[in-house]
Amino acid sequence: MSESSTKQIKVWDGLVRGFHWLMLLSFVGAYITSQSGMQQTHILIGYFICLLLIIRTVWGFIGSKHARFSDFVALPSHVWAYLQASFRNSPPHYFGHNPAGGWMVLALMGALLLMSVSGVILVSVIEFEGPLLNLLSGMSDQWAYRYEELHEVALNILWLLIAGHLVGVVVASIQHKENLLRAMVSGYKIIK
Ligand code: HEM
Repeated sequence: MSESSTKQIKVWDGLVRGFHWLMLLSFVGAYITSQSGMQQTHILIGYFICLLLIIRTVWGFIGSKHARFSDFVALPSHVWAYLQASFRNSPPHYFGHNPAGGWMVLALMGALLLMSVSGVILVSVIEFEGPLLNLLSGMSDQWAYRYEELHEVALNILWLLIAGHLVGVVVASIQHKENLLRAMVSGYKIIK
C-alpha cells in the first residue's frame, strides 16, 4: 500500500501521553533516590506519583475515547479470547488498548497505588510527617514494619508487571505491524 493511502488517527490525548512519560520518569527517579539515600526527594516523587494516579483515574472517566476505562476494561472472557488469538498469531486489532493490555494498565496502576499508599503511610510512621501523621501517629513498630514490607512487595510486583508490559508492547507491535511506542509519543496510529 502506498504512503499516500495511509491515514493517521489520534489515539492518545496529551494527558495520557504526559501521564505515561512522567510516570516512567517518576518511577525511575523514585528508584534511584531510594537507592542513593535521597529520602526527601524520594518522598516528593512519591507524592507526585500519587497526583499522577489521581489525575489519570479521573481522566479514565471523563477523558477522550481511548483514555476511558469503559473503552479498554474488557470482560475476562474477551481477555482470554484475545490471548488465545494472540498465541495463534491472529489477534484482532484495537486502536486503544487491547483487552489484555487494558488489564495490564489496571494492574500497573493498582501496583503503583499500593506502592504510593504504603509509602505515604511509611512517611508518617517513620519520618513523622505527611498528610496521615495525625491519623497514624500511634501505630506500633510491628505495623510500621509490615508497611515497609508491603512497599517492597509492591515494588517487586511492579518490576514483574513492567517486564510483562514491555513484552506485551513488543509482541503487539510485531503482531499488528504497528509502532506502539511511537503512538505513545506522537498520539497517532496509522490506519492501513
Ligand atoms: C521504556 C519503558 C516503557 C515503554 C517503551 C512503554 C510503552 C508503552 C506503550 C507503547 C503503551 C501503550 C500500549 C498500547 O498501545 O496499548 C504504554 C501504556 C502504558 N504504560 Fe508504558 N512503557 C514503558 C514503561 C512504563 C512504566 C515504567 C510504567 C509504570 C510504572 C508504565 C505504565 C503504563 C501505563 C499505566 C500505560 C497505560 C497508559 C494510559 O492509558 O494512560 N509504562 N506504555
